[in-house]
Amino acid sequence: MHKRYILSLDQGTTSSRAVIFDSLNGNIAGIKSVPLKQYYPQPGWVEHDAEDIFRDQMAAITGAIKMAGISADAIACIGITNQRETVVVWDKNTGKPLHRAIVWQCRRSSEICDSLKMAGLRDKIKSKTGLVIDAYFSGTKIKWLLDNVEGAREKANKGELLAGTIDSWLIWNLTGGKKHITDYSNASRTMLYNVNELKWDEELLKELEIPACMLPEVVSSSGACAYSNEKVLGEKIPISGIAGDQHASLFGQACFKQGDAKNTYGTGCFILMNTGKKPVSSRNNLLTTIAWAIDNQVEYALEGSVFNAGAAIQWLRDELGIIKTAHESDIEAGKVPDTGGVYVVPAFTGLGAPYWDMYARGTILGITRGTNKKHIIRATLESIAYQSRDVLEAMELDSGIELNALKVDGGASASDFLMQFQADILDIPVQRPVIRETTALGSAFLAGLGVGIWTSKEEIEKAWNLDKTYIPLGNKNYFDGLYLKWKKAVEKSMKWDI
Ligand code: G3P
Repeated sequence: MHKRYILSLDQGTTSSRAVIFDSLNGNIAGIKSVPLKQYYPQPGWVEHDAEDIFRDQMAAITGAIKMAGISADAIACIGITNQRETVVVWDKNTGKPLHRAIVWQCRRSSEICDSLKMAGLRDKIKSKTGLVIDAYFSGTKIKWLLDNVEGAREKANKGELLAGTIDSWLIWNLTGGKKHITDYSNASRTMLYNVNELKWDEELLKELEIPACMLPEVVSSSGACAYSNEKVLGEKIPISGIAGDQHASLFGQACFKQGDAKNTYGTGCFILMNTGKKPVSSRNNLLTTIAWAIDNQVEYALEGSVFNAGAAIQWLRDELGIIKTAHESDIEAGKVPDTGGVYVVPAFTGLGAPYWDMYARGTILGITRGTNKKHIIRATLESIAYQSRDVLEAMELDSGIELNALKVDGGASASDFLMQFQADILDIPVQRPVIRETTALGSAFLAGLGVGIWTSKEEIEKAWNLDKTYIPLGNKNYFDGLYLKWKKAVEKSMKWDI
C-alpha cells in the first residue's frame, strides 16, 4: 500500500511532537519531539511564542519523516492534537500573532473570572458550556488580550483578527492561511461554546466582548476538513483528525463505551470518562466536555483536570535540583518505606478539579527533623495519585458508575512506583497499554477513520494492546488513612494567594 502512513501532530505544553504511524501494523515508524520554550512574565503567568510553536512543529515533522525513512507522499492523512485552552490571537492579513500565546496554566484572567462570578453567571456558564468559571479556559484569556494589547479591540471589531486554540493556529498555518477551523472537542474548552446547542454562544460572546468573526468554524473531529498547502509540507495531504489532546488520548485508549475512563499523566493529570451521547452535568465540580464528534455526531465525557502532575516532577528536577532525571524520582521514592508523614500539595498554579481554587498555592506539610529529600520526592509522586483519586471519586458520584479499572498513559505512567501507588490508593487495577503515545495514537485513529483506513471504532478497539496491569496490594484501610490526611493537606493549601 503506497499511502500507508499517518502523520500525527501532538502539540503539547512542553513539547511539539510528530509521530508517524504505520497503518499496516500500528507501529511507530518515526517520532520527533522538540522542547518548547516557556515564558513566565509574572508569577502565575505562562506564555508560549506561537511562531515558535509552528516552527518547532515543522521541525518535528521533518525529523519524524526522516526517521521513518519515507517521503511526504507516503502519508495518507494528518491528525492534529494539541494542548487545549491555550489561545492565540493573530492578524488575519499578516498571519502575525498579536501577543504570545496565553497558556492554559496562566492565571492572568482570574480577576475577569471573579467579575463573572460576581455577576451571578456561575450557573448559566455551567449549563451552557459544561465548565466552571476559571482562568483555565480560553474565553477570559481572549478577553484579556483584547482589553490589554494596544489597538487589539479596534482591530477585532473591524474583523482583522482571528482567535483560536493551538489546533486552529497549526491548521491555519499548514493550510497557508486558508482554513480557520477547530473541532468540537477544542471548542468545548473555550467557555464560549454551547455544548447543548452546539454553537458559539452569542450571550457569552457579548458578555466577554468577543466578536464572533474572530472565532473558527467548528468541524467534526474525524473526516477530511482541510488539506495541507503544498508550499508548506510539499504535499497536499488531508487533515482528517482534530481533537484536544485529552480527548485524543481517550480515543487512543479505545474508551468507547459509557463508563470507560483513562488518566493521562502529562504536565497535569487529565482524567476523562466517556458518558455517551448525552452530556452529564456534574454535581461534584467536574467538567462536562465534548469527547469528539464523528460525522457531526457528538459524544460527551466527564473530565477532572489536575493542573500539576508531571510538572511537579519537573519542579523537583529543575527548581529544587534534588533529582537529575524524572526516572530518578522513581528510584529515590522507592528507597524509603513511606513519606514519614510528609505531604506535598503541588498547587503551583492553583487547584483544578474538584477544588477549583485559583488562589491555592503549593504547600509542603508534615516536615520533621528526620525528613530528607527522598521523603519529599516520594510525597511529590504520591500527590499525583492522590489528586487522581480526588477526581475519580467525584466522577463515580456524578456518573453513578463504579470504575473497575483505570487505563493510564502519558510520561509518568512509565513510573512503576507511581502506577503501583495509584492502584493501591484507588483500590482498582491500573492498566497501561503497549503504545504510551496514546494522545498521538488517538489522533492517528481519528485521522485514519476520517479517510477510511479504519472503518469503525470496533476495528480500532482491536488495535489497543495491554502492556501491564498493576494490581492493588490489598491493604485498603492503610491507603484510605493516607488519603484522609491528604485531604487535610489540600485544605491547608487553599485560598493562600488572596
Ligand atoms: O488542558 C490542558 C492540556 O490539554 C495540556 O496537556 O499534555 O500538554 O500537559 P499536556
